[in-house]
Amino acid sequence: MNESKAICCFLPSRSTEKMEMAELHAHLNGSLSSRTLHALRQLQNSSDSEASGDSWKKCEAIINHGNERTLDECFQLFSVVHSLTSTPTAVSKATDDVIEEFEEDGVIYLELRSTPRCIDGVMTKEQYVEAIVKSIRKANISRNILTKLIVSVDRQRGLTEAEENVLLAVDMHSKYPDIVVGIDLSGHPCKGNIEDFLPLLENARSSGLKLSLHCAEVPNVDEVEKILKFEPHRIGHGTCIHPNFGGSEKLWNMLSKSGLAVEVCLTSNLKTKTIEGYEKSHLGPLLEQNIPVILSTDDKGVFATTLSEECRIAAETFSLTRMWMCEAMLQSVSYTFTTEDEKNKLVHSIHKFMNSSGCS
Ligand code: IMP
Ligand code: ZN
Repeated sequence: MNESKAICCFLPSRSTEKMEMAELHAHLNGSLSSRTLHALRQLQNSSDSEASGDSWKKCEAIINHGNERTLDECFQLFSVVHSLTSTPTAVSKATDDVIEEFEEDGVIYLELRSTPRCIDGVMTKEQYVEAIVKSIRKANISRNILTKLIVSVDRQRGLTEAEENVLLAVDMHSKYPDIVVGIDLSGHPCKGNIEDFLPLLENARSSGLKLSLHCAEVPNVDEVEKILKFEPHRIGHGTCIHPNFGGSEKLWNMLSKSGLAVEVCLTSNLKTKTIEGYEKSHLGPLLEQNIPVILSTDDKGVFATTLSEECRIAAETFSLTRMWMCEAMLQSVSYTFTTEDEKNKLVHSIHKFMNSSGCS
């Protein structure tokens, strides 16, 4: 992967051809396009007389206005989006659309993550997860994209909720082992104490779930050290680990030696102002150090991006070749929470694409 500084030739050799990609860091509710939000609004109007006009006004303002928000503003936006995915039908529709849109972009493997939510009298957390699983199952049969689910634990919502979500994830994993494959720790990076969550996450791991933890979105040397020592399967963002980015030499060495992959979400980081520019992002040192990176969208709806756009930005900013990008996708596949058989099929598909597009 150290040929990364080669001449930039990212443009597809056949311009209509889409690269085959793997998306490993996508939050369901953050991935809803404005098309889906509008459709959900209609659905809500037709079934619910309360139809929260206020929330829709806020939502519309956010959809229609500028893309630059602070981390705090983004978390406010999530609660508005959540008001539109408050029934199993809406959750299924959201999942269907997100899978379809990733497929349209060229994604052949998708790991969606989402925080189970209950709405009094309307939906239990089990029903929330079941609605997503049902849509994934349908798409895995009918579409050319394989999707899995990672259950999220929101660090902002405290330990009781976290416990509930981990138990639910373990239960769903035993019920749907081919679909529910992992746990994510996410939510506002300044809320909650990581030490409270680690024993729960350890339980999940011993039940066969894989772990992808948000890590170092903001500088927090102590917390990052605890996460790296915990050795999850992957980390999300990893923005503030390098000493020049609010981390330290010690953390950087730990990461370099760990073999952990970092899910890098450039546009998310730029728009939440946790990096100052693409060229000044942590992707530079990660590439230089040859640390495995997994280019991802995070919240394609909230940040108005796509995975192919993230690849284009990375390629243009760091002069990455198309060949590099295909190899990065093969590397992403090696970090997926799939079976060996599924990995082999994905690798085969990407190799086939590389051969047919003169990229091997
Ligand atoms: P959901 O889990 O499907 O409802 O997706 C939205 C949720 O994902 C938000 O409420 C956050 O908890 C989490 N999330 C989305 N983006 C980020 C991020 O950049 N950092 C941490 N948490 C995030
Ligand atoms: Zn995220």
